Amino acid sequence: MTDSNSQPRKIRVAVVFGGRSDEHDVSLRSARTIMDALDSDRYEVVEIGITRSGQWLAGESPHAALVAESPMFHLTEGEQTAVPDSSRDIRPVIGAEALLPQQAANGIDIFFPALHGPMGEDGTIQGMLEMAGVPYVGSGVLGSAVGMDKAMTKVILEQAGVPQLPWVLITRREWQLNPDEVIARIERALPYPVFVKPANMGSSVGVSKAKNSDDLRTALQEAAHFDRRVVVEQGVTGRELEMGVLGNDAPITSGLGEIKPRAEFYDYASKYLDDSADLIIPADVDPEIQKEMERIAIESFIALDLAGLARVDFFLEDGTNQIYLNEVNTLPGFTSISMYPMLWQQAGIALPELVNRLVELALERHAHKR
Ligand SMILES: Nc1ncnc2c1ncn2[C@@H]1O[C@H](COP(=O)(O)OP(=O)(O)O)[C@@H](O)[C@H]1O
Ligand SMILES: [Mg+2]
Repeated sequence: MTDSNSQPRKIRVAVVFGGRSDEHDVSLRSARTIMDALDSDRYEVVEIGITRSGQWLAGESPHAALVAESPMFHLTEGEQTAVPDSSRDIRPVIGAEALLPQQAANGIDIFFPALHGPMGEDGTIQGMLEMAGVPYVGSGVLGSAVGMDKAMTKVILEQAGVPQLPWVLITRREWQLNPDEVIARIERALPYPVFVKPANMGSSVGVSKAKNSDDLRTALQEAAHFDRRVVVEQGVTGRELEMGVLGNDAPITSGLGEIKPRAEFYDYASKYLDDSADLIIPADVDPEIQKEMERIAIESFIALDLAGLARVDFFLEDGTNQIYLNEVNTLPGFTSISMYPMLWQQAGIALPELVNRLVELALERHAHKR
C-alpha cells in the first residue's frame, strides 16, 4: 500500500469504545491506553465512540466527548485527553449500520473493539464486522458470545474437563415467580457462602457474596436486575490468580498475576474506584501449579474457540491447592494499570508490541478465513 509520495500507507485502526454496557467508563480507559500504545509511525487511529444510549460518533475526538459526559470517569496520569472547545466537529452516525458501508470510503483497515460487557464483548459487534467482511481484533462471534456468558462458559468448560466450582443457574422468571423455592433449591445444592452473579456482566457489576438466606435474597434481586439469567456459585477461600493468553490457533501464555483485594472480594469499587486491591506480578506460585494453569488456560482458549487475546482467571484453594477456573475474559481490562497488559509487560512484551501483535493476529486470522 502506497500513497502519492510513495511512503508506505499507515494501517488505519478504528478503535471502538464506550458503549451501552455498564462498563462504559472502563472501556474509555482501555481505549485511551490502546490508542496511545499504537505506534504512530505504523498506525493511524480512527476514533469511534458509542454513547450510553447507543449512538455512534465519528469525526474529531469522540473520546474526549464521551469522557466529558462521564461523571464517574477517573483519569489516571498518562490517560489525559484534551477536551475540545466545541463538539462541532463530532459527527453522529445515524445507526451502526450506516457506519459500515462507509468504512471502505474511510479506508479503515481493521477494527479494534475496546468495549467491555454486553453489546461489545459478547459477539454483537463481532457479528456486524463479520457481515461487513472487515478484520477485527479478538475473538469471533461464537467465542465472544460464549465467553461473555458465565453459564455457557461453564457448560462448555465442564465438557472440556476444566475444574470449576459447583454452580446453579437461576432465571429471572423463576426468581420472580417462586423466590422461596429458588432459595431452597440453591440451599440444597450449595453450602454458604455463595457468589451470585448476572450471567452476562463483568467488572463485578451485580456480583454479591451471600452468607445466609437473607443475603441470598438481596443478591438474587440485585443480579436479576442486570440479567435474565443468574449464576449462583459455591464460594471458595483461596488466592485469585490470572493469566494472559495471546495468539490464534497456537496461543501462548503469560506468567501469573495475583489479585489481593482488601475488600471482602474483588468488587467494582476495588477494581476501578478506590484501587483498594493489590496486583502482584509475577505471582509467587509453585511451578507445577503454574504449569497446570497454563495447560488449563490454553485448553479453555481452544475449547471456547477464542482468538487474539483472553485473560483466564483462577482460584487456588487454601489448604487443598485445588485449582478452579473462575472465568474467561475475551476483552480484558486494558487500562494502563490493568492485569492483562501488565502480565505481558512482565513477560517481555511491552504495550506497543502487545497492541501491534493483536493487530497482526487479527489480520492473519482474517486472511486465513478468506
Ligand atoms: N466462587 C467464588 N468464591 C470466592 N470469590 C469469588 C467467587 N466468585 C467470584 N468471587 C469474587 O468476586 C469477584 C468477581 O467475580 P467474577 O466471577 O470474576 O465476575 P466479573 O466477571 O464481574 O469479574 C472475583 O474477582 C472474586 O473476588
Ligand atoms: Mg472477574
